[in-house]
Amino acid sequence: MCGIVGYVGPRNAAPLLMEGLRRLEYRGYDSAGIALTDGTGSPDVHIVRRVGPVANLAEAVDPASLGHTGIGHTRWATHGGVNEPNAHPHLDSTNRIAVVHNGIIENHAAIRALLEEEGVHFRSQTDTEVLPHLIRKFYRGDPLEAVRTALQAVQGTYGIAVTFADHPGVIIAARNGSPLVVGKGEGETFLASDPTALAGYTRQVMYLEDREIMRITAEGWELTRLDGGTISHAIEELAEDLVWSEKGDFQHHMLKEIHEQPESLRRCLSGRVVPEEGGARLGGLDLTTREIATISRVGVLGCGTSFHASLVGAAAMEQLARIPAFAEIASEFRYRNPVIDPSALFLAVSQSGETADTLGAVREVQVKGGRVMGVVNVVGSSIARACGRGVYVHSGPEIAVASTKAFTSQVAALLVASLMFGRTRHIAADEGRRFGNELLAVPDLVSRYLENPGAIDAAVEMVAGGKYVFFFGRGVSHAVAMEGALKLKEVAYIPCMSYPAAEMKHGPIALIDPTTPVVAIVPDDVMRDKTLSNVQEVKARGARTIIVHSEGDKDAAALADVSIPVPRTRSSLISPLLTVLPLQLIAYRAGLALGRNIDRPRNLAKSVTVE
Ligand code: F6R
Repeated sequence: MCGIVGYVGPRNAAPLLMEGLRRLEYRGYDSAGIALTDGTGSPDVHIVRRVGPVANLAEAVDPASLGHTGIGHTRWATHGGVNEPNAHPHLDSTNRIAVVHNGIIENHAAIRALLEEEGVHFRSQTDTEVLPHLIRKFYRGDPLEAVRTALQAVQGTYGIAVTFADHPGVIIAARNGSPLVVGKGEGETFLASDPTALAGYTRQVMYLEDREIMRITAEGWELTRLDGGTISHAIEELAEDLVWSEKGDFQHHMLKEIHEQPESLRRCLSGRVVPEEGGARLGGLDLTTREIATISRVGVLGCGTSFHASLVGAAAMEQLARIPAFAEIASEFRYRNPVIDPSALFLAVSQSGETADTLGAVREVQVKGGRVMGVVNVVGSSIARACGRGVYVHSGPEIAVASTKAFTSQVAALLVASLMFGRTRHIAADEGRRFGNELLAVPDLVSRYLENPGAIDAAVEMVAGGKYVFFFGRGVSHAVAMEGALKLKEVAYIPCMSYPAAEMKHGPIALIDPTTPVVAIVPDDVMRDKTLSNVQEVKARGARTIIVHSEGDKDAAALADVSIPVPRTRSSLISPLLTVLPLQLIAYRAGLALGRNIDRPRNLAKSVTVE
């Protein structure tokens, strides 16, 4: 979603801001803009904004425009349509204060009404525009104090950056609920909402916490709390794997990321599965065996693809570790006033670590005295920091909006945690060893499958021609069916439904006719025969079937109009790491065949930082 960049230093800010915005494009946005001060030759803040890709903005920005201080923004519309007046930065009435903002100002209507009564003329429909006008109202010559006072009147979430024409060489930044990170260079300072934008410029970074405000200059920054009092946080080293990822030889980031899965899984598993002990080690959880033995329940929380991984994780916790477990959509969990058992363990699963709904669920657990740990990809992200303890999944940067390699790494990390808990509580060394060895073999199996993925084109032809597509499976394969349906919706815009296979006959089967493609996920596990019966039921109503099944399963292949074998696993809990692969490829190639914007599908954002 929205992204922020900022720069103060001796260099021309415009090209640096443009590169930063380009790196934030993956988050999803619909317009972009920059504001420059300090050397522009204009008494006002100089702003340029454009609807559409950052490339549109780049055409409008003169790379040689002077200005050594600047802020930039990519906007994902929440309040007000997608047009230039609603794009950030927003200016006050005198054009001398510019603001970029991530988040939502919840009391914007009341503030706007008040300011309008005082004669302020608004130029956009955004919630954000109240900020520059409020800051102007309280400005008495000190930028930091003006922003601080303005923010006292504001309710909602924000990460903001503000520049003042009267104070070239200064940016004021503040955070409440929307991440911001500052980076220290040699005589220059960078600001961003996402450390990806800083990679390559500096590795010395500091993350703002909620209700903190800072004054940034080329020499560094001064940090204070919004309600007063100077503070400081340690400077951290940006993780080495946080490098900006290019597409390389691949046509799209999504395809590249699908093919990175053998490597990302290896990174996730290596050093964590310990076959000699029949168990696993996840140091980041920092749990003693006694603490593991007393966990009463595991709740796994996430949204979208991360929720689908959570479903597999909860099943593994129950089956492998014999701990009662459930998975829940974080946005629902946070508002249902859940009962939090202090001896339960909650896991918050998130690729970006910035999803507002998941962060809200983390806070709900914490407010009620519960224990919550992150299963997160982005190091140093808000969820990772809010949880303090957890497991990094180490997928590496995921740029395509549709999540692929993060899903498999999340599943793998949750399987490792289940093995670790299981070994402590329930399973014998032999069984643990078998499971651990099987997990360690998965990256090679993924690699083997991706080299020869089977009849994907035939499947694409079938789904691309359907009015809608059904996905079904049972047990963990239902989670895979949900993930396959989500991918095809997102990337190809094809209406899809997913059901536990046996649920079809309770209603959805009414929709089946000879034009309906059905994708069935049927690994050779304990539910196989039952799922194949459900396939028979839809076939009897004329459905055309794509069956993802274990290699060598002749019966499953015989029932399929398109048969896609994947390498066999002994444990059904591991099968999602393989059965999801053809579904990722089908979504990718269907999107390609239909001419979709694969890496940045319409209306979607990579990092969903609003509720
Ligand atoms: C689907 C997708 C989304 C995310 C969801 C949660 O391809 O990417 O459904 O999974 O928005 O995001 P994270 O994992 O960053 O919390």
